[in-house]
Amino acid sequence: MPSPAVARLVVLVSGAGTNLQALLDAAAEPSYGARVVAVGADRDDIEGLARAERAGLPTFVRKVSQFETREGWDRAMRDIVSRFEPDLVVLAGFMKLVGEDFLAAFDGRVLNTHPALLPAFPGMHAPSDALAYGVKASGATLFVVDGGVDSGPIVAQVTVPVEPDDTVETLHERIKVAERTMLVDSVGRLAREGFTITDRKVRFGR
Ligand code: GAR
Repeated sequence: MPSPAVARLVVLVSGAGTNLQALLDAAAEPSYGARVVAVGADRDDIEGLARAERAGLPTFVRKVSQFETREGWDRAMRDIVSRFEPDLVVLAGFMKLVGEDFLAAFDGRVLNTHPALLPAFPGMHAPSDALAYGVKASGATLFVVDGGVDSGPIVAQVTVPVEPDDTVETLHERIKVAERTMLVDSVGRLAREGFTITDRKVRFGR
């Protein structure tokens, strides 16, 4: 991706939106190099959307249940996101897989943050799966979305310890603290410096 003056981010959320908030806070500083131009979701009444509204940003919701097919939902998401002309699309706690049409429209510019050290523990229940496995360290991964499940080229990873008394909640919260810093740092660099992907290796710069 070449680096525009200030990169336009569309962020998709499904829940609390603390990662979105971290991006909003960082982008308040013009030197960050990116700004959130719209926030979308696959459900109503979530704190992530409320955060966007408080920030004065346009929001949109497209629920899978509103469409006859999953492909129809995917195209509707693509169409509404396209209207905001994003340089990067950031899935920040977005709990749906985007499909082929969506990915084709934003080729190589869709990022997802995941609460585990991929390729370990892909899927919807990463902190719980990591705890059940008994790993001593976990973390978060920022990656470029491809057609698979949490399988795309890795931009950045951060590790946290797993403590003996951890619950899913305490582990996920520790991951999220580290995840937010990683997300903000990495999205800023991607926006300011651009990036290339060769043989799965993501490199900052043009
Ligand atoms: C984050 O930990 C993110 O990695 C995870 O949901 C959380 C969202 O928190 N995403 C996934 O599990 C995607 N499979 P937030 O709504 O407070 O930003």
